Amino acid sequence: MIRFLPHSSGVDATMRKVYRLLLATVLFATLTSISFAQDKTPTAEELKSKAWMNKSLSPDERANLVLKEMTLDEKIDLIHGQGMPGWGTPMPNAALGNGGAGFVLGVPRLGIPIIQMSDAAYGVRNSADNGRYSTALPSPLASASSWDPQAACEYGALIGRELRAQGYNMTLGGGVNITREPRNGRTFEYMGEDPILAGTLVGNRIKCEGAQHVISDIKHYALNDQESGRSEVDVKIGKRAARESDLLAFEIGIEIGQPGAVMCSYNLVNGTYSCQNKYLLTELLKGDWKFPNFVVSDWGATHSLEASSAAGLDNEEPDPNFYGTKFKQAVEAGKIPMSELDDHVRRVLRAEFALGLVDNPTKKAVIDVEAGFETSRKIAEHSIVLLQNKNNVLPLDRNALHSVAIIGEKADFGMTSGGGSAQVDAPGPPAGWQAHVWFPTSPLKAVKAKAPNATVKFDSGADPALAAALAKKSDVAIVFVHQWISEGMDLKSLSLPDNQDALIEQVAAANPRTIVVIESGTAITMPWVDKVPGILEAWYAGNKGADAVANILFGDVNPSAKLPMTFPKSEADLPHPIVAVPPPGSKGDDNQKDPGNAHATFSVDYTEGVEVGYKWYDAQHKQVLFPFGHGLSYTTYGYSDLKVNPGQQSTVTFTLKNTGSRAGDEIAEVYAGLPDAAQEPPKRLVGWNNVHLEPGESKEVTVTVPQKYLSIFDEGTNAWKLLPGSYTFMVGGSSQDLPLKASANY
Ligand code: BGC
Repeated sequence: MIRFLPHSSGVDATMRKVYRLLLATVLFATLTSISFAQDKTPTAEELKSKAWMNKSLSPDERANLVLKEMTLDEKIDLIHGQGMPGWGTPMPNAALGNGGAGFVLGVPRLGIPIIQMSDAAYGVRNSADNGRYSTALPSPLASASSWDPQAACEYGALIGRELRAQGYNMTLGGGVNITREPRNGRTFEYMGEDPILAGTLVGNRIKCEGAQHVISDIKHYALNDQESGRSEVDVKIGKRAARESDLLAFEIGIEIGQPGAVMCSYNLVNGTYSCQNKYLLTELLKGDWKFPNFVVSDWGATHSLEASSAAGLDNEEPDPNFYGTKFKQAVEAGKIPMSELDDHVRRVLRAEFALGLVDNPTKKAVIDVEAGFETSRKIAEHSIVLLQNKNNVLPLDRNALHSVAIIGEKADFGMTSGGGSAQVDAPGPPAGWQAHVWFPTSPLKAVKAKAPNATVKFDSGADPALAAALAKKSDVAIVFVHQWISEGMDLKSLSLPDNQDALIEQVAAANPRTIVVIESGTAITMPWVDKVPGILEAWYAGNKGADAVANILFGDVNPSAKLPMTFPKSEADLPHPIVAVPPPGSKGDDNQKDPGNAHATFSVDYTEGVEVGYKWYDAQHKQVLFPFGHGLSYTTYGYSDLKVNPGQQSTVTFTLKNTGSRAGDEIAEVYAGLPDAAQEPPKRLVGWNNVHLEPGESKEVTVTVPQKYLSIFDEGTNAWKLLPGSYTFMVGGSSQDLPLKASANY
């Protein structure tokens, strides 16, 4: 495991105390200036008469009207943050912050509010520190296993509501870096390996966050696919490969979600830092994709003034190394044209109008905790993947069970979660940076509640022999295993840590009815896969995870989730068998604090190009442990009658039948193989549908496939291009179980 110096977004309790002391010293001066500012602040009534408060004008018109009124200092205020708790010395305005990762001053005299930002990957971060509570949802990767845009929307809406209740109007999420490197410590924060699936889901999440009047920032743009050396790694990749993989996820996410911001990442792409990368920020994002809102730097990812500004970075976070006094002086000296500054400011303002921040000021409120639990549990139930179910070991029959062994570290207490700036606080004191946090959702209690007449006993597994002895005298043994990951680290291997493989082997040897429940933030390897009949991937399941797992174990919920990433057999099968690390003596994340001198110290060449995840294993003819799109149900489905109607929006129609005896939700997957001339991997996901079927019920299902999803990116014309030829459409329940096939000419 590689660790970097603690990132200040995860500042611990002691640091926070020091910060508060420092804060107190600046408080008096600030309060004086606020009250002075407030004297001049117009009332809501007075503001109504201002031209830009007319809601029937477009966000662009309103932004332009405000811009005309602003002084140079006010403009500069909008293009940088005001520091972050624990990140260097507090800035003079620190007392105006809300405890989140950063904030941008407003212009009170013009009715423009402060932008209060909080991380919120799977719930609002730093809530305990803010004196409030927030729901921990299943991780974004878990939620991606539902393949459900509606669930993604509920996810975003809940985060949006809880952010605003805590006084935030901007979230630093959602992440959509595709799983090119499964050992990436932030894999749990993202949405899997397929750009169309990930982009669609993140887009729906962001759209619904936005509907709550919250600016989302899609991140980390771009190719921040590993944490090792993230501030100094130069990612090498060709344009076509990037556009068809990592960048496609952003393109789709931005199109659907219309986020208020895009966060440029720490790394370099083809020799240039992302936050000063003209191709990424100006040509592609603001040019080709017409992104109208603002680019915010990742925390400490700004490394220059003129170059960043000219490349399209609009807002530097968390503090103004470049975008404060230096920016002002550069404008005054004519080194940066006023029009360039105006463009940055206009974009920030536009986002505030477009997302409704100006018209809907936040009001702190108590959130609906029960509703949050309910949403979290429901999403978890659609996120838990039944990977293996030999001899129908699941669902468990509560009437026939006399004894159950619950085995695993903390399985009596709770379930684990992912760390770093994504971390949601569990009840108790705020979590420190990279603390290993368990939510109090007890598998032991949840199973006991389901089987009140059975004896349910717990063993931590610390001594595998004792756990095996308990398993031996139980009807069924359920082993809860965990793999913790976090921002600021990568895994060396996908093996379960802490001898848990040996624990499973010993328990399975003692009881053939052993079920493994995995709590992980990415794929794991499973040397014991053939020795246990039942395997559930529960991911980081959120603060109602145990109830969701128990509902699936006992068949109260029929599992429907499918893997959004491949589980390889071994790290040796990955495109890069070893994660590249910085050379000895590198500054790690301290590179961020040394902005002027930052430079690449090593590179990672993504020679696999577009062959990410299943596309790699398909193209390289490698067998996998569990394929992309795989997930079992307690019922079975039959696919028949495939028809393809080619066009601008092609339609793929087929019949899906529930051939079993339980109602279920099937994710029907549609893949396409392109003509040989395209030189693409054997297939790509081009669409899917989530279908509910009662036992014996059949439905005709239609999946619409936009032309872009069948196209290649043509570097010559800098455009998506549909090549003429024969396309093969494949339909079924997993990337490796596609019973229907039909060709169509384009
Ligand atoms: C992370 C971002 C996060 C920011 C603020 C950075 O280190 O990469 O994802 O939003 O910190 O906490």
